[in-house]
Amino acid sequence: MRGWPLGKPGFLGRSCVLRYADVKTYHDIVGDGGSRVAEQVGELRSRIAARLAGVRHRVAVGSGKGGVGKSTLTWQLASALRRNGASVAVLDADINGPSQARLAGMHEVPFVPTADGVALSRNRDGIGVVSLGSLVPEGEAVDFDNVSKGESHTWRATREFSAMAELLAAVEWGELDHLLVDLPPGAERTFQYAEFLGEQTSFVLVGIPSDLARGVVTRSVAALRKTPNRVLGYVENMSGYYCSECDDVRPLFPETGDVNLGIPCLGRIPFDPELASISDSGESVAEARRPALRAVAEIAESIHSTLEKPR
Ligand SMILES: Nc1ncnc2c1ncn2[C@@H]1O[C@H](COP(=O)(O)OP(=O)(O)OP(=O)(O)O)[C@@H](O)[C@H]1O
Ligand SMILES: [Mg+2]
Repeated sequence: MRGWPLGKPGFLGRSCVLRYADVKTYHDIVGDGGSRVAEQVGELRSRIAARLAGVRHRVAVGSGKGGVGKSTLTWQLASALRRNGASVAVLDADINGPSQARLAGMHEVPFVPTADGVALSRNRDGIGVVSLGSLVPEGEAVDFDNVSKGESHTWRATREFSAMAELLAAVEWGELDHLLVDLPPGAERTFQYAEFLGEQTSFVLVGIPSDLARGVVTRSVAALRKTPNRVLGYVENMSGYYCSECDDVRPLFPETGDVNLGIPCLGRIPFDPELASISDSGESVAEARRPALRAVAEIAESIHSTLEKPR
């Protein structure tokens, strides 16, 4: 017998420990308990699969660490792939801190409903962008109703993923060479997104050249090893500082030497103050002469050719 059956006469009078084996999981429930939850999840999954049927490659950009340049890299990769003639869209999966709408210069472009969904809005370069930053004005927080007062933390991740699923299923993604997904920070989140986006999604991890940040990237690598998803490699951002006056890249962090993170290094991007101001203002970059943009172009090329090769 698995633990004490609840409700058994005399149950309360006996010393009892509710053992782990007593807790029912979804697998123990026969059917769906009348909620139709399994059917609804199945329907949503099929809608997402149908919407994404024309997307050739899905690439998620993540990191265990915040503020290392995931969003900037996602956007610059999308721009570089687009410059090479690819058809590209970006999904901003950072619901709490969406930045792709601003990076694309589209933070005041609303979602446009169509007969059976939402149109994929494109910026002036033709890059499709889906970001809650287009819906929620900057200065306002993206908030979910508390299902149970004071317990929003227990529901937040679930609500975020269901909002993401609805978005994925609603948007008319059409035919795309690449759908890039800008992830929120966190190794656990990276893992959860691997499960959520499915095994067809490849990952690029971003770090900066500090021991602390590299340690966090290795956690994401370890988390992704538990999934069937492909990890294309990592990008070292802020790898030196580009001085335009001397046209040279100088050290930004104390030298720590090359570290083997167990995955390929796709490239190194120097810190370039102009890249920050161009990106943050939503301007597009027409040329790729600066070292940072040259590095992004090479990384985009390497990701594209890896994905095009049969595995
Ligand atoms: N190589 C770079 N050169 C100059 N500035 C950069 C570079 N990479 C990122 N930045 C700047 O650093 C800031 C943080 O970058 P970004 O928002 O892309 O990080 P993030 O990892 O997405 O952060 P979060 O974890 O909050 O989502 C931005 O202002 C961005 O313009
Ligand atoms: Mg970000």
